Amino acid sequence: MSVPVMTVPGEAPPTTAAVRAAGLRKTYGKGETAVHALGGRVGDDAAGVDVGFDRGRFTAIMGPSGSGKSTLMHCLAGLDTASAGQVWLGDTELTSLRDDQLTKLRRERIGFVFQAFNLLPVLTAAENLTLPMQLAGRRPDQAWMDDVVARLGLRDRLGHRPYELSGGQQQRVAVARALLPRPDVVFADEPTGNLDSRAGAEVLGLLRSSVRETGQTVVMVTHDPVAAAYADRVVLLADGHLAGEVHHPTADAVIDALRGLGG
Ligand SMILES: Nc1ncnc2c1ncn2[C@@H]1O[C@H](COP(=O)(O)OP(=O)(O)OP(=O)(O)O)[C@@H](O)[C@H]1O
Ligand SMILES: [Mg+2]
Repeated sequence: MSVPVMTVPGEAPPTTAAVRAAGLRKTYGKGETAVHALGGRVGDDAAGVDVGFDRGRFTAIMGPSGSGKSTLMHCLAGLDTASAGQVWLGDTELTSLRDDQLTKLRRERIGFVFQAFNLLPVLTAAENLTLPMQLAGRRPDQAWMDDVVARLGLRDRLGHRPYELSGGQQQRVAVARALLPRPDVVFADEPTGNLDSRAGAEVLGLLRSSVRETGQTVVMVTHDPVAAAYADRVVLLADGHLAGEVHHPTADAVIDALRGLGG
């Protein structure tokens, strides 16, 4: 018996995207004080946000402050719920999962790097690295662990606590911690926002090498055109809507594109 080909609501269309959103909207609050952070007001003509992030690629999200970058990233990573629309991680629709399923998925398939490092001060760098996997009852593959630690370049500092490391070293540990479980996507929200340019370059180099050498998918929010130039593609947001893209970005091309937004 032949099965008719049709698109079932909630079913992900075939795609090479590691993570994608369709018709995504996010409104904070209600009534007069509601903030339409992403995709405009439900019912407005403007469609919600449709965007995909290719597997094994490094994508930067840029746009003026308040344009919805963190909101988009949090919805894509299942850290925040959408007001409308769908998000798929591979074939899994995040927006249809229960809280406990979402928690499990975040733990197993998503890595997150925050601007503020978020290492636990009482644990050594090595303990911080392996904590998420321990909590998930998983053991990192030793060869992979060695590879991540080698790329981290901090083998002799792994017994130190975070306060004994520089900001750049701490953030590299946070990146390595996100890479270790081999998540489908590593999301990073302004990972170099608290770092000087040299420390920032080391963090960006680690993210870049994870994409080039191991096929990791990385999505990063940044305000810095130089940081964005490490990516394969830049997605621009303005006022909660997509506002353009730059492929194979250079810092100059990104600056021009941002100028075009009036941001
Ligand atoms: N929890 C919240 N409650 C109410 N409004 C919020 C909340 N989080 C974000 N917003 C609003 O949603 C809009 C988008 O915020 P978002 O944090 O996504 O912007 P952003 O592009 O990441 O900005 P920045 O570059 O300053 O980090 C802003 O107007 C912001 O004030
Ligand atoms: Mg933000």
